[in-house]
Amino acid sequence: MNSEIKIVGIAGSLRRGSYNKAALRAAIDLLPDGASLEILDLADLPFFDEDLEAAGPVPAVERFKSKLAEADALLIATPEYNYSLPPALKNALDWASRGQQTPLAGKPVAIMSASIGRFGGARVQYHLRQVCVALKLQALTSPEVFISEAHEKFDAEGRLTDERTKNSLKKLLQALVDQTRKIKQYN
Ligand SMILES: Cc1cc2nc3c(=O)[nH]c(=O)nc-3n(C[C@H](O)[C@H](O)[C@H](O)COP(=O)(O)O)c2cc1C
Repeated sequence: MNSEIKIVGIAGSLRRGSYNKAALRAAIDLLPDGASLEILDLADLPFFDEDLEAAGPVPAVERFKSKLAEADALLIATPEYNYSLPPALKNALDWASRGQQTPLAGKPVAIMSASIGRFGGARVQYHLRQVCVALKLQALTSPEVFISEAHEKFDAEGRLTDERTKNSLKKLLQALVDQTRKIKQYN
C-alpha cells in the first residue's frame, strides 16, 4: 500500500493578499489522492545572521526546519522581485541550508510562480532552480507553471477561478507526487 506523501508549501511573499499564497491554498483542493499539503508561514523567520545562528537555536527556525525534515516533498510558490527571488524565500532557504543535516537534501520540489506581469515570474524560476542545486533539492523540470496576470486568475477572496491554471497546478502536483514516490521507492 502506498503511504501518504507529505508535502510542505512555502510562498515567497509575506503579503496577506498574496497571489502566491492563494495559489498554495488552491493546491490543497487539487492534490492527487494519497497526498497532503501543509502551508508554512515564513513571516516569523528572522533575517539570517551568522551571529544569531551562533548564539543558539532560534525557535522559529527550529520549527521551520523540523517541518521540512518531516516532509517528503516541497512546493514553492513565489513572486519574482526584480527578476529574482524575493528576500523572504531566499532567507528561508538560507536558514534551511545550515547545519549538519540539511532537511531538504535529496527531496523533490515543485516550483510555480504568480505575478501580475505578463511573464508570470518566468525569470525567478530559473534563479530559484540554481539555488536548488546548492541545497541538493531535486527541482521538477516539468510542467512549468507560470501564473501570469494573476489579478485576473483569482477572485477578490483569493480563490483561484481560472480553469487552465487549475489544470496546470493539478498536473504539477501529480508530477510531484509521482516523483516523490519514485524517490521513496529507492530509499
Ligand atoms: C520589489 C518588487 C519587485 C517586483 N519585481 C517584479 C519582477 O521583476 N517581475 C514581475 O513579474 N513582477 C514583479 N513585481 C510584481 C509582483 O509580481 C506582484 O507584486 C505580485 O503580486 C507579488 O506576488 P504576491 O501577490 O504573491 O505578493 C515586483 C513587486 C515588488 C514588490
